[in-house]
Amino acid sequence: MKNAVVIGLGSISSFHIDAILNCANLYGVCDVDIKKADDISQKYKCKVFYDINDAVNDENVDTVHICTPHYLHFKQAKLAAEHGKDIVLEKPATIDINDYYELLKIVKAKNIKCMICLQNRYNPCVAYIKNNDLNLGNVLGVKGILTWKRTPEYYTSSNWRGKWQTEGGGLLINQAPHTLDLLAYFGGDLIEVKGTISRRVLNGVIEVEDTAEATLYFKNGVKGIFYGTTGHADNSSYDLEIVYENGVLRYIFGKLLLIKDGDIRVLCNDAHIEGEKAYWGRSHNVIIANYYQDGEYPHLEDYEKTAIILDKLLKNRI
Ligand SMILES: NC(=O)c1ccc[n+]([C@@H]2O[C@H](COP(=O)([O-])OP(=O)(O)OC[C@H]3O[C@@H](n4cnc5c(N)ncnc54)[C@H](O)[C@@H]3O)[C@@H](O)[C@H]2O)c1
Repeated sequence: MKNAVVIGLGSISSFHIDAILNCANLYGVCDVDIKKADDISQKYKCKVFYDINDAVNDENVDTVHICTPHYLHFKQAKLAAEHGKDIVLEKPATIDINDYYELLKIVKAKNIKCMICLQNRYNPCVAYIKNNDLNLGNVLGVKGILTWKRTPEYYTSSNWRGKWQTEGGGLLINQAPHTLDLLAYFGGDLIEVKGTISRRVLNGVIEVEDTAEATLYFKNGVKGIFYGTTGHADNSSYDLEIVYENGVLRYIFGKLLLIKDGDIRVLCNDAHIEGEKAYWGRSHNVIIANYYQDGEYPHLEDYEKTAIILDKLLKNRI
C-alpha cells in the first residue's frame, strides 16, 4: 500500500482522508496550524508534520495530497515533484498559467503520477455520457450555469480567499473550474475564449470577481456558453447542457436527462450519492481510489483547457 500524506487540513481534506483510508495508507498529515495537525494525526493515529519540507524529505512517503490555499499549489507541487513524490493536487493546479506549464514539465521529466482533482468528470452521470454511445450525432453546443452562494463571512473568516495574490481570482478560479472543465471536456478542441468578469455582490468584501460570463469557441463551430456567480441566494445544482444534432442532454439535480423528439427521459441518477457538500461533486473517493489502484483518473494535463480559460478571463483584473 502506498503511504500518503495530506498537506493542508481544511474543509476539503476530510474528502481526501476518507478516500485514502479505503485504498492507501494514511501515513501522515501536515498543517502549519499545529493544533489542527496534532488533533487530526491523533484521530487517525498517523504521523504529524508541520512543514511540507519534512514530509517530502521522509523517504517513506510515496504520495502527497496538496489541499492548501491556491497560492501554495505551484510551490508545494514543484517541491514534491522535485523530491520524486507522486502528487494529488487540488484545483486550481496553479494560479498562473506559466507555472502550470512549468509544473507539467517537471512532472513529465520526473515521471511521477500527478492527479488534478477534477472529480466531477467521474460523477456517474458524466461518466455515463462518456461511456455510452447515445447515437445523438455531433455536439453542436454546450452550456454551463453555476449559481452559488458565498457570504461575506465565507471570505472574512479566511486569510487567503477573495484576494488576487492568494486566491488568484474569485468565482472563476475557485468555484467554476469543474463547470469550465466539463464544458471543455464535451466541447472539444478549444480555439478562443471571450468573456467578462465583475464584482456585483461582494463589493467592499473581496478584491476579486464574484460573477463572470463567457463564450468558449471550440473546433467545428461548437460554442460553449458559461454564466457563473457566487451572488445567488442558494447553492443551486450544476446545470450542464449538451446540444447534439439529434437531441439534448441535461445534467441537473444529479440527474442526466435526455430530451429528444418531444420526450424527456432520465438516463442516469447520481442524486442519491449524498455528501456533506454534494454540490461540490460526489467523486473524490472514485478518483482517489482509481489513482491508487492504477485506474483512470484526471491527469495534470487534463487541466490545460481550464488553465487557458481562466488565464484569458482573469487577465483583465477588475
Ligand atoms: N475539488 C473540489 O471540489 C474542492 C472543493 C473545496 C476546496 N477545494 C480546494 O481545496 C484547497 C483547499 O481548500 P479548503 O477549502 O480546504 O481551504 P481551507 O482554508 O479550509 O484549508 C486550508 C488549510 O491549509 C493549511 N495551510 C496553509 N498554509 C499551509 C502550509 N504552508 N502548509 C501546510 N498547510 C497549510 C491551513 O492552515 C488550512 O488548514 C483549495 O485549493 C480549494 O480550491 C476543492
